[in-house]
Amino acid sequence: MTDTPTPPERVHPANLRDVVASGRRLVMVTAYDHPSARLADEAGIDLLLVGDSAAMVVLGRESTNDVTMEEMLLFTRAVSRGARRAMVVGDLPFMSYQPSDELAVVNAGRLVGEGGAHAVKLEGGGRAVDRARAIAEAGIAVVGHLGLTPQSAPALGGFRAQARTAAAAARLLEDALALEAAGAVAIVLEAIPAEVAERVTSRLAVPTIGIGAGPGTSGQVLVWHDMLGLTERVPRFVHRFGDLTAPTVDALRSYAAAVRDGSFPTAEHTYAMPDDEAGQFAAEAASAPQLRSVR
Ligand code: KIV
Repeated sequence: MTDTPTPPERVHPANLRDVVASGRRLVMVTAYDHPSARLADEAGIDLLLVGDSAAMVVLGRESTNDVTMEEMLLFTRAVSRGARRAMVVGDLPFMSYQPSDELAVVNAGRLVGEGGAHAVKLEGGGRAVDRARAIAEAGIAVVGHLGLTPQSAPALGGFRAQARTAAAAARLLEDALALEAAGAVAIVLEAIPAEVAERVTSRLAVPTIGIGAGPGTSGQVLVWHDMLGLTERVPRFVHRFGDLTAPTVDALRSYAAAVRDGSFPTAEHTYAMPDDEAGQFAAEAASAPQLRSVR
C-alpha cells in the first residue's frame, strides 16, 4: 500500500468552483457499496459517483437503463455510510427524471434525503436542462452529464464517441452553458474529443469531470471495476490502475484448497469451551435419544 499523503481539502457542492480555481484537479471514481466507499475515502478520492453503471458492473445486466430507483437508493445509502470525506453524487436512473420536473425533484430528493447523497447527476441537454433547473431550484445540487450519455445509447446508436463534428461540438457547448445557467454545480463530459472538452471547460465557470474526454477537463472519473482490473473488457479511455482479479482469484483458490485439505480452520480460528463443560456436553450428546425419522 502506498503512503497516504495528507488528504486535500474536502470538496462539497459549494466549494467545487473554488477548489478548481485554486489549480486542483478533481478526482472522482464510481462506488456502489460501503467497503469501496471507505477505501476510496482512505485514498483521498474527492468525489464518489454512485453510477447507474451499477446495473452492468455490479448486477451483471445488459444496460445501465436496467436499474430501478429503489436499487439506486440501496447503493447510494451504502456508499454514503462508508464515505466520511468524499462528496457523494447519486445517479438518477433511467426514467426517474425524464418524464417531468416534478418526478425529477421527487427522485433527486430521495437520493439526497434517503440516500444521503450530496448531489445528484442526470444525463443530457435539451429537456434535461429543465429538469436540472427544477432540481437546483428545489435546493438540491445537480451535476450534468453530456457527450456519450449511456441512458440514450439505444437512441444514439450504441456506445459511440460524441461531438466529433463542429456542429455537434457546438451543440454540446450550448447544452453545457445551458446546464450551468440552470444551476448545475459540475458537468461530466464522456467520450468526446479532447479539444472539445478543453474548449467547453474553458468556457464554463463550473468544473467539468471527464471520462474519455482527454486531459483538459477540471477532473477525471473512472468506473471502479474498470480501473481496478475487475472487468474483462474496458473502453479505450480506461487505464487499469490495478489488477485485482488475479489476487482475488488466488485468494479464493487458497481458501478452497485449505478447506478441502483440512488446513483451515485451525485452533486460532476456533472458539474454545472449558474442559468440564466439554466433557459434560460429550456425555449428554452420547446419551441423547436419536431423533426418529419422520418418514
Ligand atoms: O454511471 C456511471 O458510472 C457514469 C460514469 C461513467 C460517468 O455515469
